[in-house]
Amino acid sequence: MKNICVIGVGYVGLVTAAGFADLGNRVSALDINQERIDHLRQGILPIFEPGLEEVVRRNVGAGRLTFTTSYAEALQAAEFAFIAVGTPEGVDGEADLQYVRAAAEAIARAMNHPLIVINKSTVPVGTGDWVADIIRAHQPESIPFAVVSCPEFLREGSAIFDFQNPARTVLGSLDREAASKVAQLHLPLRAPIVITDLRTAEMIKYASNAFLATKISFINEIANICEALGADVKEVAAGMGYDPRIGRYFLDAGLGYGGSCFPKDVKALTYMAQVQGRNPHLLAAVMEINDDRRRLIVDRVAELVGELHGATIGLLGLAFKPNTDDIRDAPALSIARLLQERGAQVRAYDPVAMEGTARLAPSIEMKPDPYALAEGCQALVVCTEWNEFRNLDLPRLCKAMRKPNIVDGRNIYDAGEMRQAGFHYRGVGRGYNDALEAKPAAAAAAPGEKRR
Ligand code: UDX
Repeated sequence: MKNICVIGVGYVGLVTAAGFADLGNRVSALDINQERIDHLRQGILPIFEPGLEEVVRRNVGAGRLTFTTSYAEALQAAEFAFIAVGTPEGVDGEADLQYVRAAAEAIARAMNHPLIVINKSTVPVGTGDWVADIIRAHQPESIPFAVVSCPEFLREGSAIFDFQNPARTVLGSLDREAASKVAQLHLPLRAPIVITDLRTAEMIKYASNAFLATKISFINEIANICEALGADVKEVAAGMGYDPRIGRYFLDAGLGYGGSCFPKDVKALTYMAQVQGRNPHLLAAVMEINDDRRRLIVDRVAELVGELHGATIGLLGLAFKPNTDDIRDAPALSIARLLQERGAQVRAYDPVAMEGTARLAPSIEMKPDPYALAEGCQALVVCTEWNEFRNLDLPRLCKAMRKPNIVDGRNIYDAGEMRQAGFHYRGVGRGYNDALEAKPAAAAAAPGEKRR
């Protein structure tokens, strides 16, 4: 049993705190937001994350997890202090480090015994050294400490599973003794542990997220080509994925990546490279392809509906992906805005993200279920691949609509079934289906011949 302090009770902090408590450690979770801490003490979580409430409740009940706003209290017995505060996007795409700075200063002022400070937040390469400088500069008296980078790889929606089953743990520090103490903490998770220097650990996080974002933009590029050549990207991805060098994950074409990490991290990595005079062409293309996805879907709706001005369009799903209420950089919100700019009325249904969206985008009308949403719509757009949407009563949905158009931004439906249910269906990168829909009488062109 170790004593741990976790600073920040957002997604990463709360999962980390609950996860380490569940491994039998004593964890004090700190946040400067009094309301959040009060709520947590009453068992009210600031986020929706499957399984988290249960783990929090279990460990609070067992006395292993406590919440506070006081650094002195949180650090009192701590041997390890995790920094898990937000690093939002700054003006030019660089990460905004104000919260990391504030946490480092507060740690420096409150610590009264040697401490290992572990950075979990995604921070620009070099931040670990900077945190060490801040702590040194703000300590009233010199007390030994070490800084270790331990980037998080938690996915929203499966963060508890990811905490308990990490693919690897990455630790970076110039102080190998401190790094191996942090490694001990992670041993019960039975994952490979990579110990390296601070900057390399920080870079591993950015390189991993940039690679995954690249994989998504790659398959979206292939989807565009599939549409033009009459192939089906879903089957292309499945066929590619059997090759272990490629792998089957992150090959779902659709609306592109969103959320709180990929967009911000790819931008931040690009910014860091540019500041050093490098020109990361590939990352620029990854971002451009991703931005195009949202416009492309709106164009597709326009193709089906004709005039968007005055049309009513329903969005199935608002969250940036299923099993979360997170709408940060969610494709659905950009799609709603683009549709509204073209004069359409936008309404939406999402199992958990409607409350947050209504606050942020009050012009989107919320509906209580998919069938109520469909009523009077000229098109539906699948923006989030919630399981609930896979099992809808398709004929009922179709009947409720004014015009049975559906643009499946996540390719969750079978094109043939949709046609059978009476829909005009368009997926993403499904050129084979589009050709059937259009039933062209065009003369066959030789493969590779330019389309006239
Ligand atoms: C991501 C990383 O996976 C995690 O390791 C990191 O630490 C934080 O960022 P998260 O943002 O929760 O996690 O979402 P993830 O499940 O990785 O999906 C990211 C985005 O990519 C979503 O918008 C998703 O819809 C999109 N995506 C994912 C695709 O468009 N296609 C795919 O094949 C996979």
